[in-house]
Amino acid sequence: MSDKAIVEIDGNKHELPLIKGTENEVAIDIKALRSSTGGAITIDPGYKNTGSCESAITFLDGEKGILRYRGYSIEELAEKASFLEVAYLLIFGELPTGEELDKFYTDIKSHAVVDEDVKKIIDAFPKAAHPMGVLSSLTSALTAFNPSTVDVRNNDEMYNAIVKILGKFPVLVAWTMRKKQGLPLIYGDDNLSYVENVLKMMFKSPNSEYEQNPVLIDALNKLLILHADHEQNCSASTVRITGSSHAGLFVSLSAGISALWGPLHGGANQAVLEMLEAIKEDGGDTKKYMAKAKDKEDPFRLMGFGHRVYKNFDPRARIIKKAADEVLGDLGIEDPILDVAKGLEKEALEDQYFVDRKLYPNVDFYSGIIYRAMGIPVEMFTVMFALGRLPGWIAQWREMRLRKEPIGRPRQLYVGETYRPFKSLSER
Ligand code: ACO
Repeated sequence: MSDKAIVEIDGNKHELPLIKGTENEVAIDIKALRSSTGGAITIDPGYKNTGSCESAITFLDGEKGILRYRGYSIEELAEKASFLEVAYLLIFGELPTGEELDKFYTDIKSHAVVDEDVKKIIDAFPKAAHPMGVLSSLTSALTAFNPSTVDVRNNDEMYNAIVKILGKFPVLVAWTMRKKQGLPLIYGDDNLSYVENVLKMMFKSPNSEYEQNPVLIDALNKLLILHADHEQNCSASTVRITGSSHAGLFVSLSAGISALWGPLHGGANQAVLEMLEAIKEDGGDTKKYMAKAKDKEDPFRLMGFGHRVYKNFDPRARIIKKAADEVLGDLGIEDPILDVAKGLEKEALEDQYFVDRKLYPNVDFYSGIIYRAMGIPVEMFTVMFALGRLPGWIAQWREMRLRKEPIGRPRQLYVGETYRPFKSLSER
């Protein structure tokens, strides 16, 4: 293969170098395009063909359905690792030794409290506030209680900021849910694992001990791992671009949470459940909704289907589907929603419209069913996604700062009015 691409404008040829990734992906390096062509830019709304950075964190091949964190397959990690091991791997690049993992968790636990004044902020939110809005605000508010900015050249400062947010974030997640349910805001227990603590902080009732269920611990561990990173998606890019102005870690994460909220991204898991509920309430006629999804005049989309990058089965969806069966089986739950989901999946996989467009179930299609079986309210689903994605966002932010990436500042092609003289009010 040649090592350059050639762009020809008005008969003038401009050579652009090609660069190759470790998985043989090819990129045209257009860094010198404007200067060599006298101002031409590329245009790619939604960045479907544009790489924003070089990254060594996550590899995914949407055609083949491959997802790997730092070289390790998602299937192996979901089967064999703990969420904290995966968090360490994503952020620091290697799986931790036993000693490193112990220290990592001890340091995280030492920060697993938030300033009591945070409760006043939570109190100020109306009960109807969406938990994602609350979580984004609380994450941003942490800056007020931990004001020191991170000197990213200082490894210790960087490390401290990371363990701080990994410690505090689950508390904010649990409190966001408990406040909505009118339950007292509690802390975890240093004798429990990270995932066990999340479950306890979310579900412990005020007058009884919380009994851990190994099936739920395993399912939540898997869900968090599966959501932990997904390279340059909408929220990760938001975190990177926010941090590229040298805004701090916590506010960059808060921006990522807001980006995740939308129904075309992390909000899809809530949208899936709401859609399944609506189909069930409407008599469970999946064919009717398949027809709506295919009708270009109808804005309805089959939520949980399709993916910007996967044009094959989302490998995470396979793992989650199995976990959903285990959780429902263990808890003895017969969920009619699951029948609607299975019916839709079967029809979509056989339908020409979906086959032609390579629309397969994505990670969110089944995650909501597990969360629901666990007793997590629908509005909290995307918050759980954020909890899983936290290490990925941190890793993306850290990588961007360590690589000294320039401030993110896209160009545009201006298509508005050309110069026109100002008209005074009486002339308009
Ligand atoms: N239902 C029906 N038709 C769909 C769906 C769907 N869920 N998704 C895509 N299509 C159709 C589009 O209408 C379009 O058809 P056309 O070529 O005839 O115009 C074609 O498939 C391509 O769709 P795009 O929107 O161009 O694909 P894109 O890559 O931009 O969007 C997205 C991907 C946003 C995920 C889309 O598939 C979607 O909206 N899915 C439903 C929402 C969802 O599940 N989001 C979660 C994604 S996973 C995550 O964020 C963790």
